[in-house]
Amino acid sequence: MSRANHHPQLLCDMLGIRHPVIQAGMVWCTGAELVVAVSRAGGLGTLGAGSMYPDELRAEVRRVKDQWSGAFAVNVPLLYPAVEEHMATIVEEQVPVVFTSAGSPRKWTDHLKSAGCTVIHVVSSAVFARKAVAAGVDAVVAEGFEAGGHNGREETTTMCLVPEVANAVEVPVIAAGGLHDARSILAALALGASGVQMGSRFVMTQENPAHAAFKQRIAEAGAGETRLMLKDVTPVRLLRGPEGSFYDQVAAAEDAGADVEALRALLGRGRAKKGMREGDLLEGELEIGQVSALLDDLPGAGVLVERLVDEYRVFGTAGMAPGFHWDALG
Ligand SMILES: Cc1cc2nc3c(=O)[nH]c(=O)nc-3n(C[C@H](O)[C@H](O)[C@H](O)COP(=O)(O)O)c2cc1C
Repeated sequence: MSRANHHPQLLCDMLGIRHPVIQAGMVWCTGAELVVAVSRAGGLGTLGAGSMYPDELRAEVRRVKDQWSGAFAVNVPLLYPAVEEHMATIVEEQVPVVFTSAGSPRKWTDHLKSAGCTVIHVVSSAVFARKAVAAGVDAVVAEGFEAGGHNGREETTTMCLVPEVANAVEVPVIAAGGLHDARSILAALALGASGVQMGSRFVMTQENPAHAAFKQRIAEAGAGETRLMLKDVTPVRLLRGPEGSFYDQVAAAEDAGADVEALRALLGRGRAKKGMREGDLLEGELEIGQVSALLDDLPGAGVLVERLVDEYRVFGTAGMAPGFHWDALG
């Protein structure tokens, strides 16, 4: 059961937002325009620092602050080579909320909190959630197997992960992975989450700087067209490209039992930028979640937040499962 301290209002108060809807930090797929649109609509916009050079992050943070004086966030994958420089920027620029991922939260949480940041760590299991709480984080993101981008090796789906994490920790839990509409927000909150983080859904928005060809490919994607790949190197959910694409190359190598070195060599460098920002569907890496099968429109990001809230209100007043009455079962 969801506990009192998992109430969405507590998360909203903690983050200084009106709606418990977070636009995920994503490599190559965020920018100041997206962040400002989401935050102005009452959600929380997040810059994905994992694909930015230190001077780029500072410039993007300043562009956000020039347009918006309220809450926003930066996501820092802790394996990022220049993590020290990113953290210095975050502290100097007084970024209100920081999401850390892909690494141990022990090293940076105290530092960021003593600088006044709210710190949230991304986890893929209840064990990691407890460790993050022991490190002092204010909240956790429970990110399930369905999610786009890099993923835990555990393969626990959002449906199972969210209640596990909500049972394990007292801090607010933000559900992520496979969420895209009011129904999925309702489900996440019913499972014990205090709010939701959506990545793939926000790739498919007007303000997202992802390449139009990548967005078009997502719009056409059907069920079963993503797969968690490169599990021995760095697990990442990839979308199938045209025949012979990077996805096919990785699939063939893995099926043939390629070792870590061979997979690393195949991955090379710069594939994510090539695919998602430059629109090279053949040689680039296309990171997106399973929910891509359900995405085919391209709303403005602020309009999307408003739509989610409006639709949620309809579900909320209609009951958990509109039109269904348990007692009517035979
Ligand atoms: C293109 C893309 C890039 C991502 N990059 C990052 C990242 O840099 N750091 C991170 O913590 N998560 C990253 N993620 C994961 C998201 O933050 C988020 O948790 C995930 O997208 C949620 O699942 P969904 O895609 O089903 O909404 C990325 C996701 C996508 C789709």
